[in-house]
Amino acid sequence: MNRNVTRRVFLNTAAAGVGLSVHTARAAETPARLGGKPVRTKPFPDWPVWEKTDEEALVRVVRSGKWNRVGPEVARFEEEYARLTGAKGCLAVANGTSALLTSLRALGVQAGDEVLLPPYTFVACVNVILALNALPVFVDTDPTTSQIDPAKIEPAITERTRAVMPVHLGGNVADLDAILPIAKKHNLPVIEDTCQSHLAEWKGRKAGSYGSTGCFSFQATKNLNCGEGGAILTSDPELLEKCYAFHNNSRGRKATGYTFTYTAPGLNLRMTEFQAALLLAQLARLDEQAKTREQNAQHLSRLLRDIPGLAPARMYEGCTRNAYHLYMFRYDPAGFGGLPRAAFLKALSAEGIPCSGGYSPLNKEPFVANTVHSRPYQALFSKERLAQWDERNQCPANDRLCTEAVWFTQNMLLGPRADVDQIAEAIAKIRANAGALAKA
Ligand SMILES: Cc1ncc(COP(=O)(O)O)c(C=O)c1O
Repeated sequence: MNRNVTRRVFLNTAAAGVGLSVHTARAAETPARLGGKPVRTKPFPDWPVWEKTDEEALVRVVRSGKWNRVGPEVARFEEEYARLTGAKGCLAVANGTSALLTSLRALGVQAGDEVLLPPYTFVACVNVILALNALPVFVDTDPTTSQIDPAKIEPAITERTRAVMPVHLGGNVADLDAILPIAKKHNLPVIEDTCQSHLAEWKGRKAGSYGSTGCFSFQATKNLNCGEGGAILTSDPELLEKCYAFHNNSRGRKATGYTFTYTAPGLNLRMTEFQAALLLAQLARLDEQAKTREQNAQHLSRLLRDIPGLAPARMYEGCTRNAYHLYMFRYDPAGFGGLPRAAFLKALSAEGIPCSGGYSPLNKEPFVANTVHSRPYQALFSKERLAQWDERNQCPANDRLCTEAVWFTQNMLLGPRADVDQIAEAIAKIRANAGALAKA
């Protein structure tokens, strides 16, 4: 045994039944951060993945001379994506941000309204609400799942709430069995942010097909990727047409090229034929990639659950498929002889395992409060209401999660099972050497 393995850590490990070979394989070695050999020197699989079919798709569009959505590709992608997800309708848009903004506008959210959202998410979620001069109301996170805490939604609803925007974060699915009935009771639309959850399922049906709309991103890091892109799912044909008009400068499907009269505000948030052609090519391998991620993630969870101090993100019972855009777990220094998370992340990176601590609390980003107290908001909301917002803007469980989380990216789950074994080996090695690493 390595001199650095403290008796306490060794006994904890043994007591926890960590007898699997991956947990002991490298434990006796010196950590890479202290000059030893890293567990892994090979990079994880590259992202994006492409082949000849992707190249041919782009060439096909170039040669067609139809580069905006007048060609066949966007329409074909919308059809395919609706079929794949089981939604009645799909509108392709420029990116995930456009999908959220278009949904909010088409559902009638305006300046002075309140929209509920989680604080454990990407900045685009709050940006689209602020772009409309609506008030973002943050609902604390369930740290065991990293999703919006369903028990905290109803108390956050006021007479000015106009929409609920749960985010299916990291490929996991928020508790739709709890969220949908609350929204229905209060007559509120649900905008599912499915930007990170392609092919994820709730009770066997695709995430994104439950809410008034489901919003997807096809940005470069996403499990379905065309560089930048987005889509809205909805099974409400009237809402689909409202979304279409808004994303097309307020022009409906029948508007022809040279009519320049308008009946409502809109924007140009259209997808190009290039994006759609690439998506169609990428779609061909989406399910297989998703299966590989799922199998590897499940294997990783089995391995990590045996390591004291680590808690892989739980799934609600209704989540029948996790898209694993991120592999998320919580790290407790107490299980690692007090080694702080920052030191753990550095040590793990040094072992050749890229990792991050994930989001910081979005509700506490100074620009959010600055915007909420800016001139337009002062005109829309009373002083008391804005003071209440300050008071209510507390998400302690989320604050804590932001200090505990560790993330791996989806591409790390696309290789052979041995890749995942190496992740567990590296973590076990760090744990066995936690004492020495804490002093480094
Ligand atoms: C949860 C979430 N919502 C919204 C977005 C915005 O998507 P996009 O970057 O395509 O505008 C992203 C991704 O970047 C995201 O991860």
